[in-house]
Amino acid sequence: MEQALTAVLEQCLDDLEAGVLERGSAYRWPALATAGPAARVVVLRELRRAPLRLSVYTDVRTAKVEQLRTDPRAELLFFDRDSLRQLRVAGRVTVHHGDDVARQAWGDRSHLQEDYARLFPPGSPSDADGAGALSGDGFDNFAVLRLDAESLDWLQLSREGHRRARFHAAEAGWDGSWVVP
Ligand SMILES: Cc1cc2nc3c(=O)[nH]c(=O)nc-3n(C[C@H](O)[C@H](O)[C@H](O)COP(=O)(O)O)c2cc1C
Repeated sequence: MEQALTAVLEQCLDDLEAGVLERGSAYRWPALATAGPAARVVVLRELRRAPLRLSVYTDVRTAKVEQLRTDPRAELLFFDRDSLRQLRVAGRVTVHHGDDVARQAWGDRSHLQEDYARLFPPGSPSDADGAGALSGDGFDNFAVLRLDAESLDWLQLSREGHRRARFHAAEAGWDGSWVVP
């Protein structure tokens, strides 16, 4: 891969890492799109750089989990307003519920455990404050969604000329190419 494309790819991975580590990062709050069509904002929780895998946490009773169990294809969409960059990470999601992956993530305490302890499933009718009754510690409802990335689509808007690159996961890393924005 040419040097400029390698630099773009490294920048993408650094940006995603910042999303996991920094609350103020634009990469912390992607939209997760699933076959519905359906999209919603989530928090980026974990990253493994190579092979690229991104994780988010959710309630196993949400619509997205049912959608992903029917069709595991998904995309995480990131938009950085300051740099006018869009990054789309597409791949397949594995739902981890009640297993070691979920247990380990549950223990990391970066999330509010009470969010998962609602008696009634997310989306159920509720009173105006939205709180609802609690039941158990929430682990039974907690799930980790791991997206194994198959492609990246990077777009940089700029007055000097927009640039767009695509990367596909290959045996030995990534294949990248420039495409028309
Ligand atoms: C800033 C923000 C962060 C959110 N983070 C998450 C998250 O990490 N996981 C999650 O399941 N829902 C998160 N949500 C709620 C989702 O956007 C969505 O409303 C909920 O998960 C139900 O989606 P579904 O019915 O399509 O599955 C977040 C919402 C906002 C506004």
